[in-house]
Amino acid sequence: QFPKGKLYGRDNQLATLTDVYNNIGKPSVPSIVLVSGYSGAGKSTLVKHAKRSIKRKDLCFISGKFEHLQQTKPLSSIEAALAEYSNEIVKQGRAKILQTRWLIIQAIKSDVRVLTETFPCLSKIIGELTSTPAEVHFRAAQNRFKFIFQMFVRAIATTSNPLVLFLDDLQWADELSLRIISALIRDTENTGFLFIGSYRDNEVAPSDLLPILINELETSKVQVTNINVSSISKEDVNNLIADTVGMPQRLTKSLSDIVYQKTSGNILLVAQFLESLLDEDLLMFSLDHSTWMWDSKGIDAREIADDAGVLLSKKILQLPRGCQYGMKLLACIGSKCDASTLMFIINKGKDLEESIAGKMLDFAVDEGLLRKEGPNYVFVHDQIQQAAYSLIPENERGSLHRQVGHLILISLTENQDDDLFFTAVSQ
Ligand SMILES: Nc1ncnc2c1ncn2[C@@H]1O[C@H](COP(=O)(O)OP(=O)(O)OP(=O)(O)O)[C@@H](O)[C@H]1O
Ligand SMILES: [Mg+2]
Repeated sequence: QFPKGKLYGRDNQLATLTDVYNNIGKPSVPSIVLVSGYSGAGKSTLVKHAKRSIKRKDLCFISGKFEHLQQTKPLSSIEAALAEYSNEIVKQGRAKILQTRWLIIQAIKSDVRVLTETFPCLSKIIGELTSTPAEVHFRAAQNRFKFIFQMFVRAIATTSNPLVLFLDDLQWADELSLRIISALIRDTENTGFLFIGSYRDNEVAPSDLLPILINELETSKVQVTNINVSSISKEDVNNLIADTVGMPQRLTKSLSDIVYQKTSGNILLVAQFLESLLDEDLLMFSLDHSTWMWDSKGIDAREIADDAGVLLSKKILQLPRGCQYGMKLLACIGSKCDASTLMFIINKGKDLEESIAGKMLDFAVDEGLLRKEGPNYVFVHDQIQQAAYSLIPENERGSLHRQVGHLILISLTENQDDDLFFTAVSQ
C-alpha cells in the first residue's frame, strides 16, 4: 500500500488544477480542462486529489466515469454525476431544493419532464411531473435534448454557485454523451461551469469521435487547459518507495533505481511490480534485521512487461481455475455485478467444477483484485477488468457474451431496475 493522501511528482499539475478551481467564473478563466495520459499514470487520482484544495464552499463538484466496453446505459456516467448533484442539493435542505427547482423550471419550463425522464435522479429536486412533453422525431429529439440540457446547466451553474463536472475515462464514452458534452462546453453563457474530462491518450484512435471533438475544440473559441499526466521521475519513485517501506531515501535508492528502470515510472506499473517482488520473495521484511531487504541481482534479472495489464494477467492466472473463470465472467458483465446474479450465471453457465467459482471469487478479493461493495463484486481498477477480459480467447468472447446476456435476461425479476436489463442487451 502506497502512503494514502500523498501525490508524488504532481506539484505542477496540482497547482494548475487548484488555480482553475479557485478562479471559476472569472473572465478569461478556461471552462474546460482535459487531463490525458497513459493508462495507470494517475489521472483519476490527480483530479480527485486536487478536489481537496477547493476552498470555495459554494462550489459543487460532481463526477462520473465511463466504462470499458460501454457496458452501461448511454449517459449513465452523466447520470451518476447528476445523482451526486441531487444528493448534494437534498442535503442542503428544503429551501435549497425549492430554490433550485424554481431555477430549473424557470429555465426549461414545460420541457422539464424530458430532463427527469432521462435522468430520474433529478426528480428528487424537481419532483414528479404529470405534464407530458410533445413527441418529436428522434433526430429532433436529440437536438432538443442537447438544448434542454444546456439550459439546465446554465440554470444550476452560476458565478455565485459554480459547478464542476468531472467525467473520467472519456475514451470509453458513448456517442450521445460526447455530443452532449461537446454542446455543453461550447456554451459560452455557462459562466459558472467547469468541465474536466480525462482520457487515456494511448487508447484513442485518430478516427474515434473523441479526438475529432478535441481537435474541433482546439480550433474553437473554447479555452482548453491541457494537463498531461506522465510517468514520475526517478527521484519521485525513490520518495514513493522510501515512504512506503518507511526507510530513509538514501537506503532505498538501490531498489528504486531498478524499479524505475523496469517501469519507467508508470505508477500503476510500479505498484504491480513491487507486489510481484513481494510474491516472489525478491523483496521481504526481515524480522531478524527489522528492516526491508531485497535481492538486487534477482530483481534486475526479472523480466517485466511494459504494461501493467500483462503483470495483472499473470497474477490472475495464478489464482484457482474457478476463480479465474468467475473473474472472466465478471469482466464480460462490467466493472461490477451483484453476487447473486453472478453466482446464477456461473452456476448455470458451466459444469459442476466451474460452479464452485462463486465461492472462489473471495480469493480474488484476498489478492486485492476485487472488492466487495455491499452485494456487489467490483474490480478494484479498470485495468484488472481489462486484464481478466483479455484472458478470454478472442474466438470465445462472442459466445460468452451471448450466453451471459441470455442468462441475465432469465435471472431478471419484474421489479428489477433497467440497469441489469441494459447489461444483458449490451452483451
Ligand atoms: N502521484 C501519485 N502518487 C502516488 N500514487 C499514485 C499517484 N498517482 C496515482 N497513484 C496510484 O496509482 C494507481 C493508478 O492511478 P490512477 O487510477 O489514478 O491512474 P489512471 O491514469 O486514472 O489510470 P486509468 O487510465 O487506468 O484510469 C492508483 O492506485 C493510485 O492510487
Ligand atoms: Mg482512471
